[in-house]
Amino acid sequence: MPLVSPKEMFKKAYEGKYAIGAFNVNNLEIVQGITEAAAELKAPLILQVSAGARKYAKHTYLMKLIEAAEIETGLPITVHLDHGDDFEICKSCIDGGFTSVMIDGSKHSFEDNIKLTKQVVDYAHERGVAVEGELGKLAGIEDDVNVSAEDASFTRPEEVEEFVERTGVDSLAIAIGTSHGAFKFKPGQKPHLRFDILEEITKKLPNFPIVLHGASSVVPEYVKIINANGGQLDDAIGIPEDMLREAARSAVCKINIDSDLRLGMTAGIREHFAKNPEHFDPRQYLAPGRDYIKELVKHKITKVLGCDGKA
Ligand code: G3H
Ligand code: 13P
Ligand code: ZN
Repeated sequence: MPLVSPKEMFKKAYEGKYAIGAFNVNNLEIVQGITEAAAELKAPLILQVSAGARKYAKHTYLMKLIEAAEIETGLPITVHLDHGDDFEICKSCIDGGFTSVMIDGSKHSFEDNIKLTKQVVDYAHERGVAVEGELGKLAGIEDDVNVSAEDASFTRPEEVEEFVERTGVDSLAIAIGTSHGAFKFKPGQKPHLRFDILEEITKKLPNFPIVLHGASSVVPEYVKIINANGGQLDDAIGIPEDMLREAARSAVCKINIDSDLRLGMTAGIREHFAKNPEHFDPRQYLAPGRDYIKELVKHKITKVLGCDGKA
């Protein structure tokens, strides 16, 4: 099966009340861990690549790794640009074989966001590529995404209809209280998502796929392993899984997960070195990281996304 558009996946996910996992990939072991898990559970899959990942591993390496995973597993896989910042990076990914791109114009004014997003949609749709837009700003820090908590803002439901109509996007990322990274809430703060805003948005956009970024649950087991083996992630807090499960049953069709993969990989490697300080063969210490990623993705597919058996 060739790399696929997410459009059909989203339609089925919406109707079936589940979500597709969109997992960030940066190297071979991450691609293998994710795709082996999805293949065993027959789950549809989105593998997404950030600007930082393209800088680190290069577009062609990542594209070929994803193509190899698709050949090895026979799974329907969408390859998606995560947080495209401008038209040029979206064009480069579309020309380079991606089946979906995100143009993240959320830092711009409403009008400028529409203008930029529409430019990408026009180019992408002529070539059969799907586009995700964003309204509202998530807090959090990643390589190329950096928004302070004060600058974060929830999506305004009164804007979504006009945005979707004028841009022609195929899906919309919204801000309802999730954030990027492993420190989503302050210690002692009760995790809270604005499901009321999601409901308002769904009323304005019936049957339209919504995307949730910043949706790692910061799985406590992996944080515990990291901290027990020399790490320092004491205040890491994510989105509770019951909230993510609730989102997956709603109009949310794509749930973005990166930080949990990073934690799984790091937990595997730290634990391995604590037990085997004499090892220096990368295959010895990367394999446990890959195993934890596989275990983590299986957990997400069955307990959070509900997309097992849907490929
Ligand atoms: O939302 C951003 C993703 O987690 C990618 O992070 O830009 O550090 O690759 P990155
Ligand atoms: P997390 O940092 O919660 O994994 O979010 C990832 C994400 O939104 C990628 O776009
Ligand atoms: Zn994101």
